[in-house]
Formats: sequence, C-alpha cells, structure tokens
Amino acid sequence: MSQSIETVLTEDRSFPPSDEFRGAARLADRSTYEQMWRRSIDDPEGFFGEVARELPWLEPFTSVLDWSGAPVARWFDGGKLNVSHVCLDQHVEAGRGGEVALIWEGEPGDERTFTYAELLAEVCRFANVLKARGVSKGDRVAIYMPMIPEAAMAMLACARIGAIHSVVFGGFSAQSLTDRIEDGGCTAVITADGGWRRGSILALKDAVDEAVQDQAQVHTVLCVRRTEQAVAWSEGRDVWLHEALDGVSDECAPEPMDAEDVLFLLYTSGSTGKPKGIVHTTGGYIVGAYLSTRYVFDLRPGDTYWCTADVGWITGHSYIVYGPLANGARMVMYEGAPNAPHEGRFWELCEKHRVSIFYTAPTAIRAFMKWGDAHVEKYDLSSLRLLGTVGEPINPAAWIWYREKVGGSRCPIVDTWWQTETGSIMLTPLPGMSATKPGSAMTPFFGVDAAILDEEGNEVGHGEGGLLAIRRPWPSMLRGIWGDEERYHDTYWSRWDGRYYMAGDGARRDADGNFWIMGRVDDVLNVSGHRLSTMEVESALVSHEGVVEAAVVARPDDLTGEAIVAFVIPTDEVADDGGLALGVLLKAHVAAEIGKLARPAEIRVSPRLPKTRSGKIMRRLLRAIAAGEEIRQDTTTLEDPTILDELRTGVKA
Ligand code: PRX
Repeated sequence: MSQSIETVLTEDRSFPPSDEFRGAARLADRSTYEQMWRRSIDDPEGFFGEVARELPWLEPFTSVLDWSGAPVARWFDGGKLNVSHVCLDQHVEAGRGGEVALIWEGEPGDERTFTYAELLAEVCRFANVLKARGVSKGDRVAIYMPMIPEAAMAMLACARIGAIHSVVFGGFSAQSLTDRIEDGGCTAVITADGGWRRGSILALKDAVDEAVQDQAQVHTVLCVRRTEQAVAWSEGRDVWLHEALDGVSDECAPEPMDAEDVLFLLYTSGSTGKPKGIVHTTGGYIVGAYLSTRYVFDLRPGDTYWCTADVGWITGHSYIVYGPLANGARMVMYEGAPNAPHEGRFWELCEKHRVSIFYTAPTAIRAFMKWGDAHVEKYDLSSLRLLGTVGEPINPAAWIWYREKVGGSRCPIVDTWWQTETGSIMLTPLPGMSATKPGSAMTPFFGVDAAILDEEGNEVGHGEGGLLAIRRPWPSMLRGIWGDEERYHDTYWSRWDGRYYMAGDGARRDADGNFWIMGRVDDVLNVSGHRLSTMEVESALVSHEGVVEAAVVARPDDLTGEAIVAFVIPTDEVADDGGLALGVLLKAHVAAEIGKLARPAEIRVSPRLPKTRSGKIMRRLLRAIAAGEEIRQDTTTLEDPTILDELRTGVKA
C-alpha cells in the first residue's frame, strides 16, 4: 500500500473542462454540485424522492428510505414499478419509439439496429417465450451469453416478468457456471450456441451442457443461434429461441414489482474461495443507475454512448443496459475483442457511429498504448466529447495518453470508482464541474457519504491512507448476499460494528479533499479490472492431483494491472525440469476450473513455502518475491530462511 501512496502523491496535474464543455453541461459549477450533494446527504428522502418521481411508477411509493433494518436498507417502500417498463415503455409512450436505442456490431462486421419500439417488441416476445416455458416471478434464470443484443433482451425479459436474472460472464468455465447455477437455484439458462472472439468461437452451449449435467432443477436451456456450429441437443430441455419466438405476441404486460423485489443476482469474488451472489433490488437500483448515468456521463439528446464492458459484469448491467436505457440513450454495443480483426477496431466503430461518450477500462487503455498511436490516429474521433474509465486504478501515463490520443486533449475523463456491491458509480468527477487529476476518482456522487477511516472508524487526515468506507445507505446498494446473511454482515459491516460499509479498498484524500483509490486491502486480486480471490485460485490449484499446497499472490503488471503468481508444492518431488511441465498443466487447469481470466501468469514449483513457526504462509514475502523486490522485511519469524533463495531462483512456467 505504501508504494501506491508514493506513486499517486507525485501527481499534481489538473485539467479543467473546456468552456465549451462546461457551457453545455448538465452540471457546470461546484456550488450547485455542493448544494445538491449536501441535500442528498442531509435530506435523502427529499432528494431521492424527487429523483425517483422522474421515473414512471405503476404505483407510487409511500416512504423513501427505511434504515431501521440496517444494514439492509429499504428504499421506496409501497411503490410498484417494472424496470423494463422504465427502460422501454416510457420512451415509446412519450412518442420516442422511433428513436434508436441500440446499435450493435458483431465481431465479423454484421450490424443490427433497434429503435425503442423495436426493442420493446423484442423484449415482450422474449418474455412471452420465458412465460410459456413456465418461468415466473421470483424464479432465477442464468444468462450465459456473448455480447449480442439478445443478452440485453434476456435481462430485460426477465425483469419484465419478475424473474431474477443471474448473468455469468461468458469467459467463465463450465465449473464456474455450475457453481453459480447451483448457488442461485436457477431453473432456466439462457445462452447461445457460441459467440465470436478474435475470430474463433466461444463454445457457450457446450459449456452449458456440461454445467447443467447434474443440475436437475434446470428445466429449460434457451439457446440463441449465433455462430451456427453444430451443438448437442437435449430434447425437451433445450429450445432454440428463434423457433420458440415463432408466432409469439409482441405484447406482454410488465409485472408490477415491489420496489424491494429482487431484480438480479451477480456473483463476485471476495476473500474466500466461494463467490458471493450480490443481491440487487428493483426501485433503488434503477434510481441509482438512472441518476448516475445522467450526471456522470452528462447524457443529453443527440449523444451516442458506448460502454465497452461485457454484460457479465456489473458495469454491463448498470451502464450498458439499465442506466442508459432508463435515460432513453442511443448506444453502441460490440460483440468482440478490441483487436479483432485489427487493433483499430474500437476507433473505427467510434468514427462510424459518431460516438460521443466512451467508457472503458484502464487495462484496455494500456493495451491500446502498447499497440501504438497509429491505430488511433487513423480515425476521425472528433465526435467524442467525454471519456470514462472504471475497474481499477488508472496510472497517470495511461490517463494522459487517453486524454491526448483518444480525447484530442478536449474531452474530460471521468474516473469512476464503484463496485458490484454498490450497484452504481460512487466516486467520480462530474465532467462539467471538476478539474480532473490523472488517477483520482475525485468526489462523491449524490447520496454518497464516503470517508477514509482508520481501523477504529476515525476519519484520517487528508494525505493519509486508510480504509474507504461509506457511512450512509444509498439507493442502489446491495441488499445482501444470496442465501448468506451472515457473510453479508461479516464482509461489509463487521469492521466498524455495523456502523459503516467497508468497501475493501485502501484510499486517501489529497489536500483538496479529492479521493485516490489505492487498491484492495483484502485477498482480492484485480486482473484486467476483473475481481478474483486468491483463495479461489488456490482452491483450483489444489484440486489438481499434482499439487499439495498453493499460495497465490498478485504482482504489478504493466498491462493487466495485477498478474497472478502462484507458488505450489507438488505432490511428488520437483521434477528435473524444475516443475515447468507441471506449471504448464496447472495454468490450463485453472483456466478450465475458473476461466481464462484466472490463469496464473507465472507458476513457481518448489518443495516448500515460507511459513511462520506457527505454520502460516507468509504472503507478504511471496508478494515481494513475485514482484522481484529485495526482501527488506523482517524474516526472523520464518521457519527456514534458506527457502527464500530457492523461491527466487525457481523455474517459472
Ligand atoms: O478495487 C476497486 C476496483 O474494482 C473493485 C470492484 O470490482 P467489481 O465489483 O468487479 O466492479 C468493477 C466495476 C465497477 C473495487 O473495489 N475499482 C473499480 N473502479 C475503480 C477501481 N479502483 C480504482 N479506480 C476505479 N475507478
């Protein structure tokens, strides 16, 4: 942690928005922001009551916030609404049905466009198919899809009938999918035969077949035809979407949902091996997604918005599907990789669709830098007016490159800090108001009472590092962990006796009070902006017969932010190749168990691991070794100090 403090401290550049940007912005001056923020904290009922009333409720709410059951908040009790109605019907009813909602590009270059009226009709038909298959309110539906329009439609169709969706990222393995289907008790799965990724097919249906083998409660696998390769078929259980849609009505009344009915589960990694099903409910979530999209992205009529995330992550939920559609935005969605078929693909799409707001991840920006400026310079990016990043701390060099090469030195950058758990953006510049600093998430969003605390819960001084905490409930906060109330309390609320939410990130504020995120303080890794737990990767490693014990740490990586380094003790003696062959096997094994994103960058096989005399693995030592640092730490508690040289020189697979 001390290292990240040093690096961020050296950054004192500051970039105000241009007069042109500020002149047209939704929120252009600091005093308006401060007034609004103050009110959102002092009078959340008044502030969020007004925001919520901008949305179409089927029945009005009778209270705004009930925190008596803390730490489980209730927002907008008594109110009924349907998120698909908020995202689609309201715009059609207001006469905007002919406006474009979604411009989609497949990786091979195919294109589909949907107006709001068309998207509504598709979602209704999809919802009717789900109903006909017996899916109803409260049922859990797993969605394991490529980035095609049907992924968004599937989510909205579930929302329309009150089914709870659980989207699983298409890059996760069959085993990870099984775990999530089982934990959520999903009875239906929506998937596709495959998706395109760098010119090859991601065989999703095959993975689903494997995943549901022993999941007898899964009665339906609804399959979208995308890549058209042959797939295995289980009669009775498997249904082609295009066949099921034949002759189905494009009308389906939205199910009136209580504000606190569950909208979706989304699994994320914590410090233990078992992913947690984060629970989000209906009213508070959509209010948070709606308001943040509007202000953080300064969304206005005429904008074309593109968020490059995958719908398998929270960013895809809140800032591809729910937030933009609730605002009636026109957006771009893309199926494939940023370098397929060439490294300029994203910029080609920005030029082609005249994208004005672009939201991506630092790891992608670092990849673009590596591929070279020429790929960016080839395209006309003059339509861009605002850029965003999310998922991990952005290093100032990448920030500056993004600003100059992509944003033409004219677009503000919003570095947005938030989490699966928070549902929507929590810390962020507001682009018309903030002079942004490279690497800082700047200011709390409306309703967010953020602070940096010490272990006892005291606020630390500006410039000092501490734990990031949120001191009040906010509308889109998680309502729990699916099926595990205790873990919800332990993970987020136990540090300060139930008083504050603990985010799990270290942070500091600078002399101006702006927030700088320094990374996780628990055993959560952040690889390319994807959360993984060290324990999850360790348990995948020890599930291999060749491994007795494993310890996983992160080391800094120029491209992916953090990379996984695994130290393993083999079952047999270390082979003559120094464990090289085993390491290769283990990398493939972890990829098969969890997904490619969890594959260790490096595996060091050794007969021993550094342990204290009481038998605890000394992870901080392993971290230093993995990073190639001099060991300056106290090693006197180490059982056998000679082990360090062994690990330092170990063969890397
Ligand atoms: O460590 C923080 C990092 O990502 C974590 C949340 O991961 P996840 O739930 O997968 O959601 C990612 C997308 C919202 C956080 O605890 N993180 C996210 N955004 C930032 C960030 N770290 C630094 N700066 C950010 N802007």
